[in-house]
Amino acid sequence: MLLDLALWLATPAPWRHRRLGYVRESVLLSARARRCRRVWAPHAAHTRAAVLAACADLPLRREAVVLGSGPLADVPLAELAAAFERVVLVDAVHPLSARLAARRFGHVRLVTADLTGAGDPVGDLCGRADLTVSANLLTQLPVVPVDRHEAAGLPVPERLGAEIVAAHLAALGRLPGRVCLVTDTEQRTEDRAGRVTDRLDLLFGVSLPPAPLSWDWELAPFGEAERHRRLVHSVRAYPDWAAARDGLSLP
Ligand SMILES: C[S@@+](CC[C@H](N)C(=O)[O-])C[C@H]1O[C@@H](n2cnc3c(N)ncnc32)[C@H](O)[C@@H]1O
Repeated sequence: MLLDLALWLATPAPWRHRRLGYVRESVLLSARARRCRRVWAPHAAHTRAAVLAACADLPLRREAVVLGSGPLADVPLAELAAAFERVVLVDAVHPLSARLAARRFGHVRLVTADLTGAGDPVGDLCGRADLTVSANLLTQLPVVPVDRHEAAGLPVPERLGAEIVAAHLAALGRLPGRVCLVTDTEQRTEDRAGRVTDRLDLLFGVSLPPAPLSWDWELAPFGEAERHRRLVHSVRAYPDWAAARDGLSLP
């Protein structure tokens, strides 16, 4: 708790991102990542492998941009830094640990940006990239905007989540370079007998095409969120999103 408060105070971020709750979300994410490091390890390894698969056959490796780089738990930073002339890490909040990791490489740059912000931030940041990675970001994009409505006691617009998800996918679809998309899609709540007691569509009705890679991510093992329930996320990875996205279906 005290560590979280200290991290909240010490994490550099624009005042707007702090006020909107991005720093709070980032500190909570890092805290859960520390607690769940062991059970999250396979998810991180699968994500890193998908990113490396995305750049394996790329003829040009000038610039790689990672959207949602956050704590860098699932970004193969050293490998990207070795393979590309420039690496750009983009997030609303770069935790101190990520800042330290990036500092080891002279050609890795951090960009602090709200990817749901006005205009086309994805197009502006990734328009020249040979590789863009959307790294477990998609379902996080609606979190702060939805929370903002709820905190203000305002009704959440019915299509807000779906619009944010669809806008990010559309922005990725317009990029000229290779796009690697890794995202969770659904949350299952399971009891200790293995029964599914609840399901939550994390994409607000947007249906992704079949993916070449998929796995389960045990987001909250028993005892993390609830003593006798665990949360498991289904994850899909598309090392080459352009080859798959024709099957995308919007609500
Ligand atoms: C689940 S984390 C991604 C994990 C990360 N790829 C890693 O390697 O550890 C989701 C990230 O999305 C970021 N994020 C959420 N909403 C955002 C927004 N509107 N703009 C930019 N980043 C955002 C969060 O700050 C967080 O770092």
